[in-house]
Amino acid sequence: MERTYVMVKPDGVQRCLVGEIVSRIEKKGLKVAALRMNVMTEAAAKEHYKEHSERPFFGSLISFVTSGPSVSMVIEGNNAIKIMRAINGATNPIDALPGTIRGDLAVDMGRNVVHASDAPESAEREIALHFEESEISGYPRADDEWLY
Ligand code: TYD
Ligand code: MG
Repeated sequence: MERTYVMVKPDGVQRCLVGEIVSRIEKKGLKVAALRMNVMTEAAAKEHYKEHSERPFFGSLISFVTSGPSVSMVIEGNNAIKIMRAINGATNPIDALPGTIRGDLAVDMGRNVVHASDAPESAEREIALHFEESEISGYPRADDEWLY
């Protein structure tokens, strides 16, 4: 079982897409192991996106992601990291295929609705940044035996 960190960004919350996004994740067969809505602090946002700290879009990215409430999740399942990246689609909605969240629900690179960790190391780092271990539930999905 693998865990990944997923966020519905402030644009997704304000466009009332939380249910749509969580539903796609659940229907795929991945498990919502933790979920919280909050306004990300500037410090957490800068740490979260630190790999981009030298990029020209860093400032606008940090102010956008801290501009309102976002929904943070720990998503669990076999190959959850790669599967979540596929569900989200390409970073730029111009390139995101229909059927993906960004392909179906977004038009702008800076307002691309969702985040998911891109590798095992970033997933571990991002989960630890946004959640205490005690907030992550260990319940089984009722359909686990059919999924795997
Ligand atoms: P990145 O980690 O490259 O994409 P992803 O979210 O798919 O992992 O970039 C982080 C976010 O930064 C991205 O979702 C949108 C924003 N961004 C820009 O605004 N401009 C850019 O040129 C890039 C590469 C990203
Ligand atoms: Mg990224």
